[in-house]
Amino acid sequence: MAASNKLQRITVPEIKARKGNEPIVCLTCYHAHTARLLDNYVDIMLVGDTLGMVIHGMETTLGVTLDLMILHAKAVMRSAKRALVVVDMPFGSYEESPEVAFRSAARVMQETGCSAVKLEGGTRMSQTIRHLTQRGIPVMGHVGMTPQMVQVYGGFKTQGRTTEEWPAIEADAKAVSESGAFAVVLEAMAEPLASRITQQIPIPTIGIGASPDCDGQILVLEDMLGLNPDPPTFVREYAHLASEIESAVKSYTADVRSRRFPGKENVYSVKKGPQKI
Ligand code: KIV
Repeated sequence: MAASNKLQRITVPEIKARKGNEPIVCLTCYHAHTARLLDNYVDIMLVGDTLGMVIHGMETTLGVTLDLMILHAKAVMRSAKRALVVVDMPFGSYEESPEVAFRSAARVMQETGCSAVKLEGGTRMSQTIRHLTQRGIPVMGHVGMTPQMVQVYGGFKTQGRTTEEWPAIEADAKAVSESGAFAVVLEAMAEPLASRITQQIPIPTIGIGASPDCDGQILVLEDMLGLNPDPPTFVREYAHLASEIESAVKSYTADVRSRRFPGKENVYSVKKGPQKI
């Protein structure tokens, strides 16, 4: 029996119950300092596989491994005490079969203590989503532009720009919902399509390059902080950290070269009293 029967952080059922109510605030998060800063504000922190590109400089997310996801998720979990933490299943860790997906997702849950996993794909992943959710693993789906398919698309391509594409994408979102996912990310798709999907399915939709009508919104933290030199069109920058960092580094460089740093306040004095050298 656990010491308390109440979970300390925002729960999966609480997020699910937000459908059509107060918007769900989500951001990606990959490390401890930012997790501490975000924790009082966001409902969901996603340890997204975009960390491969943002933190590790990869061209796509395809090189991200399960070990790398677990490493970053542990760092986030050490600082996030209130928000629901969802961890992305990286390419190659779940597509092969529902059983492989279960083993990978169970590892993520056990080793990090996160509350849920996210995986990409609609209809093609519905059996896997059902397999996981029936075995105690909450799943967030991800449809529309799914970055792990970048080599198939031939680039990060917006989806649903023509209405002929809509039925397949709507079917994907419905399949994810009917398989037991508690929420679904709608990424980079025509706005009216995202709005329609939000009305059609009973679980919260979390938009990124989607629609203000979605039940929640997510952005990559470093994009909205202004660290990405080439952000996607759907990003709104709430800070310009790139220029702030550059000017801080410039000042530090000047201070070191002119011996203004370190100052008296940055060095250790000798303790008072008799001492031997
Ligand atoms: O990996 C990620 O950061 C994501 C978000 C962009 C939704 O999947």
